[in-house]
Amino acid sequence: METGKITTTKKAEILDKQKKYLFPNHLLYYTEPLPLERGEGLYVWDVEGRKYLDFFGGILTTSVGHNRPEVTQAVQEQAGKLIHSSTLYPNEAHVNLAEKMAHLAPGRIQLSYFTTSGTDADETAVMLARTHTGNQEIIALRHGYSGRSAMGMSLTGHSPWRIGGTHILGIKHAINPYCYRCPLKLQYPSCGMACAHDVEDVIRTTTSGRIAAFLAEPIQGVGGFITPPPEYFKIVAEIIRHFGGLFISDEVQTGFGRTGGKWFGIEHWEVEPDIMTMAKGIANGFPLGNTMTRPDIAASTTGAGLTISTFGGNPVACAASLATMEVLEKEAGPQHVARVGKVLRTGLERLMEKHAFIGDVRGMGLMQGLEFVRDRKSKEPAPKATSHFMELCRNEGLLIGKGGLYGNVIRIAPPMTASIEDVEEALELMGRALTQVGVD
Ligand SMILES: Cc1ncc(COP(=O)(O)O)c(C=O)c1O
Repeated sequence: METGKITTTKKAEILDKQKKYLFPNHLLYYTEPLPLERGEGLYVWDVEGRKYLDFFGGILTTSVGHNRPEVTQAVQEQAGKLIHSSTLYPNEAHVNLAEKMAHLAPGRIQLSYFTTSGTDADETAVMLARTHTGNQEIIALRHGYSGRSAMGMSLTGHSPWRIGGTHILGIKHAINPYCYRCPLKLQYPSCGMACAHDVEDVIRTTTSGRIAAFLAEPIQGVGGFITPPPEYFKIVAEIIRHFGGLFISDEVQTGFGRTGGKWFGIEHWEVEPDIMTMAKGIANGFPLGNTMTRPDIAASTTGAGLTISTFGGNPVACAASLATMEVLEKEAGPQHVARVGKVLRTGLERLMEKHAFIGDVRGMGLMQGLEFVRDRKSKEPAPKATSHFMELCRNEGLLIGKGGLYGNVIRIAPPMTASIEDVEEALELMGRALTQVGVD
């Protein structure tokens, strides 16, 4: 058919230009990359007109679904008035969004500094912690992910994500609460939370004893949705504060209701963070990062030096974010996510009962992971089967993500507007794909 020919040519052209004009290290999903053309709600279409149920949302970013009319309208209206101002001039969208963020954030967290990405948000958090405490050293976690700048890569606890090497000194990586593969080879709860207590040892033995901050994700995203035991962060927060550090909760993936029941991941663990970082789902796909803190901490930046963000607080991105937050509050808030997430989790546990190569199901809300292993006893990671499953899901018309240090964790995180029916459809497609997975 003529149309088929045209779209096939378009696909070939896109893939050809991708190869010719973009760095080869752009990580692309699938053996044959998937050029997308448009989206609506939970669905996206590729350039050949094939429809997919999107259960990864552009890496947990399209919080309220693709092409959501309220967001599109807010963007169009703002773009018709003012596209750019820089942080040198106040603008209405910027301050209104800051006000909304202050209402959503827990505890005494109130002030925002908007930037353009999660990397930038984490950079700002570290700068803030160092300015406030006067200390330099940071404790991060193994298997954590913090972005692609030199600081982001240095904070990251995965060798594959440190392209070019790590150069920033003063960052130490504590062992993470990865119960499925306990780094201390212990069992929860008889372990006595040894991994959390080890943070004290890390500080005493590998730092000057005066730290600026501890930075961690409430559930490790890129790490493979690694979910800590409930008491982990409470123990760590106490240790961190004893050594003069601030607690930075990286909510880039866990923010805005994603984990169900709470607006932010850290709220599940009953720790009041000193600083929070956000991005991804904050603006439904518009580039926006945010670093939030208490007024007394933010005050320490006054007179400490100059900083600007040319694109930070961009009026269009802020308008998109405000509209995204309003949709979430209206119809896809934390309680909705908890309800729909429960159906997803129960369905995944059923799939695990049927397939021995699923070694673990974990996560919270609409952030659920499946860890693939060659067998449950050895727990040897099965990255090939994981990639195969992703390809099979694509063939079934379902997009999902992948993660984990060993590339063997499936990440499932649809827009938070997903309904129970959407989840049931995804489970059905995954069920079909799973029966075709070969574990060698
Ligand atoms: C927890 C976390 N922090 C920071 C980042 C960096 O965000 P960005 O890719 O927007 O720079 C990511 C990105 O995946 C992330 O998952």
